[in-house]
Amino acid sequence: MAGVMTGFGNFTHAVVRAIPSSLAKEALRMNVLDVDLVKAQREHEVYVGVLKHKLGLQVIELPADESLPDCVFVEDVAVVCGDTALITRPGAESRRKETEAMRRALKELDLNIVEMSDENATLDGGDVLFTGREFFVGLSKRTNQKGAEILADVFKDYAVSTVPVTDGLHLKSFCSMGGPGLIVIGTSEPAQKALKVFEKLKDHMLIPVSNMEKVKVDGALTCCSVLINKKAKV
Ligand code: GLY
Repeated sequence: MAGVMTGFGNFTHAVVRAIPSSLAKEALRMNVLDVDLVKAQREHEVYVGVLKHKLGLQVIELPADESLPDCVFVEDVAVVCGDTALITRPGAESRRKETEAMRRALKELDLNIVEMSDENATLDGGDVLFTGREFFVGLSKRTNQKGAEILADVFKDYAVSTVPVTDGLHLKSFCSMGGPGLIVIGTSEPAQKALKVFEKLKDHMLIPVSNMEKVKVDGALTCCSVLINKKAKV
Protein backbone atom coordinates (compact mmCIF):
# COMPACT_ATOMS: atom_id res chain seq x y z
CA MET A 1 0.00 0.00 0.00
CA ALA A 2 1.21 3.52 -0.63
CA GLY A 3 -0.29 6.74 0.60
CA VAL A 4 -0.59 9.10 3.53
CA MET A 5 -1.93 8.46 7.03
CA THR A 6 -4.41 11.31 7.11
CA GLY A 7 -7.76 9.82 6.15
CA PHE A 8 -6.92 7.14 3.55
CA GLY A 9 -7.51 9.16 0.42
CA ASN A 10 -11.04 10.45 0.55
CA PHE A 11 -12.53 7.66 2.65
CA THR A 12 -14.04 7.94 6.13
CA HIS A 13 -15.76 4.54 6.64
CA ALA A 14 -15.21 0.92 5.69
CA VAL A 15 -17.58 -2.04 5.86
CA VAL A 16 -15.94 -5.41 6.49
CA ARG A 17 -17.24 -8.86 7.39
CA ALA A 18 -15.80 -11.63 9.53
CA ILE A 19 -14.58 -14.92 8.06
CA PRO A 20 -16.92 -17.92 8.51
CA SER A 21 -15.40 -21.35 9.27
CA SER A 22 -17.02 -22.56 6.04
CA LEU A 23 -14.54 -20.45 4.04
CA ALA A 24 -11.82 -23.08 4.45
CA LYS A 25 -13.68 -25.87 2.66
CA GLU A 26 -16.51 -24.21 0.77
CA ALA A 27 -15.37 -20.80 -0.51
CA LEU A 28 -15.14 -20.61 -4.29
CA ARG A 29 -11.62 -20.87 -5.69
CA MET A 30 -9.95 -21.20 -9.07
CA ASN A 31 -7.22 -23.56 -7.80
CA VAL A 32 -7.62 -26.34 -5.24
CA LEU A 33 -5.66 -25.05 -2.24
CA ASP A 34 -6.00 -25.77 1.49
CA VAL A 35 -6.73 -22.77 3.69
CA ASP A 36 -5.43 -22.44 7.24
CA LEU A 37 -8.57 -20.94 8.79
CA VAL A 38 -6.92 -19.66 11.99
CA LYS A 39 -4.18 -17.95 10.00
CA ALA A 40 -6.77 -16.48 7.62
CA GLN A 41 -8.71 -15.07 10.59
CA ARG A 42 -5.52 -13.66 12.13
CA GLU A 43 -4.54 -12.01 8.85
CA HIS A 44 -8.03 -10.56 8.54
CA GLU A 45 -7.84 -9.10 12.05
CA VAL A 46 -4.58 -7.38 11.16
CA TYR A 47 -6.14 -6.06 7.95
CA VAL A 48 -9.13 -4.63 9.84
CA GLY A 49 -6.73 -3.17 12.42
CA VAL A 50 -4.84 -1.35 9.66
CA LEU A 51 -8.08 0.13 8.33
CA LYS A 52 -9.01 1.33 11.83
CA HIS A 53 -5.78 2.35 13.45
CA LYS A 54 -3.33 3.16 10.66
CA LEU A 55 -5.78 4.60 8.15
CA GLY A 56 -8.18 6.12 10.67
CA LEU A 57 -11.39 4.77 9.13
CA GLN A 58 -14.60 4.16 11.04
CA VAL A 59 -15.07 0.44 10.46
CA ILE A 60 -18.47 -1.30 10.45
CA GLU A 61 -17.88 -5.00 11.12
CA LEU A 62 -20.59 -7.37 9.90
CA PRO A 63 -20.82 -10.83 11.46
CA ALA A 64 -19.85 -13.92 9.46
CA ASP A 65 -22.60 -16.11 8.01
CA GLU A 66 -21.69 -19.81 7.87
CA SER A 67 -24.10 -20.37 4.97
CA LEU A 68 -22.15 -17.83 2.89
CA PRO A 69 -18.54 -19.12 2.70
CA ASP A 70 -17.31 -16.17 0.59
CA CYS A 71 -18.99 -13.47 2.68
CA VAL A 72 -15.70 -11.90 3.85
CA PHE A 73 -15.23 -10.60 0.29
CA VAL A 74 -17.64 -7.72 0.79
CA GLU A 75 -16.25 -5.66 -2.07
CA ASP A 76 -18.12 -7.82 -4.59
CA VAL A 77 -21.62 -7.02 -3.33
CA ALA A 78 -21.65 -3.20 -3.43
CA VAL A 79 -20.07 -0.36 -5.39
CA VAL A 80 -20.12 2.88 -3.42
CA CYS A 81 -19.33 6.22 -5.01
CA GLY A 82 -20.23 9.46 -3.25
CA ASP A 83 -23.59 9.04 -1.53
CA THR A 84 -24.77 6.25 -3.84
CA ALA A 85 -24.40 2.53 -3.24
CA LEU A 86 -25.10 0.13 -6.09
CA ILE A 87 -25.99 -3.28 -4.65
CA THR A 88 -24.59 -5.68 -7.22
CA ARG A 89 -25.85 -8.96 -8.63
CA PRO A 90 -22.79 -11.17 -8.04
CA GLY A 91 -21.81 -13.48 -10.87
CA ALA A 92 -21.72 -16.56 -8.62
CA GLU A 93 -25.26 -17.57 -7.68
CA SER A 94 -24.01 -18.89 -4.32
CA ARG A 95 -22.95 -15.36 -3.37
CA ARG A 96 -26.18 -13.45 -4.10
CA LYS A 97 -27.50 -13.53 -0.52
CA GLU A 98 -24.35 -11.76 0.68
CA THR A 99 -26.00 -8.55 -0.51
CA GLU A 100 -28.58 -8.59 2.29
CA ALA A 101 -26.35 -7.68 5.25
CA MET A 102 -24.46 -5.16 3.12
CA ARG A 103 -27.68 -3.45 2.02
CA ARG A 104 -28.73 -3.06 5.66
CA ALA A 105 -25.33 -1.66 6.67
CA LEU A 106 -25.24 0.85 3.82
CA LYS A 107 -28.82 1.96 4.55
CA GLU A 108 -27.80 2.60 8.15
CA LEU A 109 -25.01 4.79 6.80
CA ASP A 110 -27.73 6.79 5.04
CA LEU A 111 -26.50 6.10 1.52
CA ASN A 112 -28.85 6.11 -1.48
CA ILE A 113 -29.34 2.45 -2.34
CA VAL A 114 -29.75 1.37 -5.97
CA GLU A 115 -30.46 -2.28 -6.76
CA MET A 116 -29.13 -4.23 -9.72
CA SER A 117 -32.29 -6.23 -10.23
CA ASP A 118 -31.98 -7.08 -13.96
CA GLU A 119 -31.72 -10.87 -14.16
CA ASN A 120 -29.49 -10.65 -17.24
CA ALA A 121 -26.90 -8.55 -15.42
CA THR A 122 -24.02 -9.75 -13.27
CA LEU A 123 -21.39 -7.61 -11.60
CA ASP A 124 -18.80 -8.27 -8.90
CA GLY A 125 -17.30 -5.20 -7.24
CA GLY A 126 -13.90 -6.87 -7.66
CA ASP A 127 -14.21 -6.01 -11.34
CA VAL A 128 -14.81 -2.31 -10.68
CA LEU A 129 -11.83 0.04 -10.49
CA PHE A 130 -12.69 3.67 -9.67
CA THR A 131 -9.85 6.09 -10.25
CA GLY A 132 -11.60 9.12 -8.77
CA ARG A 133 -12.33 10.41 -12.26
CA GLU A 134 -13.60 7.35 -14.13
CA PHE A 135 -14.58 3.71 -13.80
CA PHE A 136 -12.98 0.69 -15.40
CA VAL A 137 -15.14 -2.43 -15.36
CA GLY A 138 -13.58 -5.83 -16.02
CA LEU A 139 -15.63 -8.17 -18.17
CA SER A 140 -14.82 -11.45 -16.50
CA LYS A 141 -16.27 -14.81 -15.51
CA ARG A 142 -18.35 -12.89 -12.95
CA THR A 143 -19.21 -9.56 -14.63
CA ASN A 144 -20.99 -9.07 -17.95
CA GLN A 145 -21.67 -6.19 -20.33
CA LYS A 146 -25.17 -5.64 -18.93
CA GLY A 147 -23.73 -5.27 -15.43
CA ALA A 148 -21.26 -2.68 -16.72
CA GLU A 149 -24.06 -0.81 -18.50
CA ILE A 150 -26.15 -0.64 -15.34
CA LEU A 151 -23.17 0.69 -13.39
CA ALA A 152 -22.67 3.37 -16.08
CA ASP A 153 -26.32 4.30 -15.81
CA VAL A 154 -26.15 4.60 -12.01
CA PHE A 155 -22.92 6.64 -11.92
CA LYS A 156 -23.75 8.95 -14.83
CA ASP A 157 -21.24 11.62 -13.84
CA TYR A 158 -18.31 9.36 -14.71
CA ALA A 159 -16.96 7.77 -17.88
CA VAL A 160 -17.08 3.97 -17.77
CA SER A 161 -14.76 1.80 -19.85
CA THR A 162 -14.76 -1.97 -19.99
CA VAL A 163 -11.62 -4.08 -19.84
CA PRO A 164 -11.50 -7.76 -20.85
CA VAL A 165 -10.32 -9.97 -17.98
CA THR A 166 -8.99 -13.21 -19.41
CA ASP A 167 -6.66 -14.31 -16.59
CA GLY A 168 -7.56 -14.50 -12.92
CA LEU A 169 -10.89 -13.89 -11.24
CA HIS A 170 -11.42 -10.15 -11.27
CA LEU A 171 -9.97 -6.96 -12.76
CA LYS A 172 -8.66 -6.06 -9.31
CA SER A 173 -7.00 -9.49 -8.98
CA PHE A 174 -4.07 -7.89 -10.79
CA CYS A 175 -4.45 -4.11 -10.47
CA SER A 176 -5.96 -1.82 -7.89
CA MET A 177 -5.91 1.56 -6.23
CA GLY A 178 -7.02 2.31 -2.69
CA GLY A 179 -7.70 6.02 -3.22
CA PRO A 180 -5.96 9.15 -4.44
CA GLY A 181 -2.24 8.67 -3.90
CA LEU A 182 -2.68 5.17 -2.51
CA ILE A 183 -1.76 2.08 -4.50
CA VAL A 184 -2.57 -1.43 -3.34
CA ILE A 185 -0.42 -4.11 -4.87
CA GLY A 186 0.00 -7.88 -4.49
CA THR A 187 3.00 -10.20 -4.54
CA SER A 188 2.51 -11.82 -7.95
CA GLU A 189 5.13 -11.39 -10.65
CA PRO A 190 3.18 -8.78 -12.67
CA ALA A 191 2.36 -6.91 -9.44
CA GLN A 192 5.99 -6.90 -8.37
CA LYS A 193 7.01 -5.51 -11.74
CA ALA A 194 4.49 -2.72 -11.28
CA LEU A 195 5.75 -2.14 -7.74
CA LYS A 196 9.19 -1.26 -9.11
CA VAL A 197 7.52 1.64 -10.94
CA PHE A 198 5.53 2.69 -7.87
CA GLU A 199 8.64 2.61 -5.68
CA LYS A 200 10.08 5.43 -7.75
CA LEU A 201 7.19 7.68 -6.70
CA LYS A 202 7.96 10.27 -4.04
CA ASP A 203 5.99 10.74 -0.81
CA HIS A 204 4.59 7.26 -0.58
CA MET A 205 4.49 4.82 2.30
CA LEU A 206 4.32 1.03 2.12
CA ILE A 207 2.25 -0.84 4.73
CA PRO A 208 2.82 -4.59 4.30
CA VAL A 209 -0.27 -6.69 5.14
CA SER A 210 -0.07 -10.47 4.78
CA ASN A 211 -2.88 -12.07 2.77
CA MET A 212 -1.47 -15.57 2.21
CA GLU A 213 -4.61 -17.49 3.18
CA LYS A 214 -7.47 -15.52 1.63
CA VAL A 215 -5.60 -15.36 -1.69
CA LYS A 216 -5.97 -19.16 -1.86
CA VAL A 217 -9.67 -18.57 -2.38
CA ASP A 218 -8.99 -15.71 -4.81
CA GLY A 219 -9.40 -12.93 -2.25
CA ALA A 220 -7.20 -9.84 -2.57
CA LEU A 221 -6.90 -7.02 -0.01
CA THR A 222 -9.52 -4.77 -1.59
CA CYS A 223 -12.01 -7.68 -1.68
CA CYS A 224 -12.36 -7.41 2.08
CA SER A 225 -13.71 -3.89 2.50
CA VAL A 226 -16.20 -1.45 1.00
CA LEU A 227 -14.82 2.07 1.39
CA ILE A 228 -17.08 5.06 1.86
CA ASN A 229 -16.59 8.82 2.00
CA LYS A 230 -19.09 10.48 4.32
CA LYS A 231 -16.95 13.55 5.03
CA ALA A 232 -19.59 15.90 3.71
CA LYS A 233 -22.11 14.68 6.31
CA VAL A 234 -19.89 13.91 9.34
N1 GLY B 1 -13.58 -16.71 -3.38
C1 GLY B 1 -13.99 -15.50 -3.95
C2 GLY B 1 -14.87 -15.72 -5.10
O1 GLY B 1 -14.66 -16.70 -5.79
O2 GLY B 1 -15.80 -14.98 -5.34
